Amino acid sequence: MKRIAVLTGGGDAPGLNAVIRAVVKTAINDYGCEVLGVQDGYDGFIAPGGVFPLDLAAVRGILPRGGTILGTANRGNPFARKVMQDGKEIIIDVSDKVVAAIKALNLDAVIVIGGDGTLHVSMELCDKGVPVIGVPKTIDNDVGGTEVTFGFDTALTIATEALDRLHTTAESHHRVMVLELMGRDAGFIALHAGVAGGADIILIPEIPFRYDAIIHKVRQRVERGSHFSLVAVSEGAKPLGGGQVFSRRGDAVYVPRLGGIGQEVAEYINAQGFESRVTVLGHIQRGGTPTAFDRWLATRYGAAAVRAAAAGRFGHMVALHNAQVITVPLREALAVPKRVNVDSDAVRTARGIGISFGDENN
Ligand code: F6P
Repeated sequence: MKRIAVLTGGGDAPGLNAVIRAVVKTAINDYGCEVLGVQDGYDGFIAPGGVFPLDLAAVRGILPRGGTILGTANRGNPFARKVMQDGKEIIIDVSDKVVAAIKALNLDAVIVIGGDGTLHVSMELCDKGVPVIGVPKTIDNDVGGTEVTFGFDTALTIATEALDRLHTTAESHHRVMVLELMGRDAGFIALHAGVAGGADIILIPEIPFRYDAIIHKVRQRVERGSHFSLVAVSEGAKPLGGGQVFSRRGDAVYVPRLGGIGQEVAEYINAQGFESRVTVLGHIQRGGTPTAFDRWLATRYGAAAVRAAAAGRFGHMVALHNAQVITVPLREALAVPKRVNVDSDAVRTARGIGISFGDENN
């Protein structure tokens, strides 16, 4: 293995720089291999100056830094690129151009750090001959084939701290505080942070809720002497028989943007006579320094990705299984997106300690 490239794609997540650092250090120290950084996801391969050498000095001091030193692109899908032509927006496929650029660089491997979207694109590029190794990233923890993605622990730590802070003000003002959290169609952040932060009600996409069940829980708490409640609501949560709430529609390139369910829940609670406020935590969950766990996992993932590249395990991604980092075929990992198992011990534990999911009057 003489020369590899590394790129980051999709939304950023705390720990990206820790992966990049581990890739560079392992490739240079263990394999004497040259590493190239690619700017802004796959776009960098076809942009002027988009590919550059990454040496040990380039990754010095980046372990605790959030974001990605390589930049990333949310719309960096080479199979569907939005461009302007004759004053009109059109979508073109530049994948052949990207593949040709990668071939011209004589790369032995391309290490792609990305979530569901980027890893799907990578699988297709692998089918076109690109020697891809994936590293699963996302705060949502919704990538199949691995027990956990890096970035998730940091996001849920920030969400838990937000709940702790809302707790004291909720109690002082006898209010119902609603916290809207990220996660897309997976409720992991709301579930884990909700349990860790003492939420009374957790609303997640996997368990459609009823508004009357939320009020039942709030009223029950008041009757038992707790004149405040904390609601952790996942941005993808939806009422039974209703739909998710979006703040922007999607199209062939952009996925629809979720957002607004927290406001709807808070308005309903207010209308029922319980004073309520909503906080949308948003990108605070993605920015800033990674937790120790995410640095540890990201470093192991980065090093394992280089070893997988040396072993020629293209079309695979690194993954955590029973505390061991292994590799799994991308096709297998991405076949089914990961969602909260509603029969898991995590959900049963939450119910057992009195948390309502808004699906029954408990
Ligand atoms: O997938 C990560 C994520 O932060 C989701 O939780 C959220 O829905 C989305 O990205 C937000 O995307 P953007 O950064 O484009 O607003």
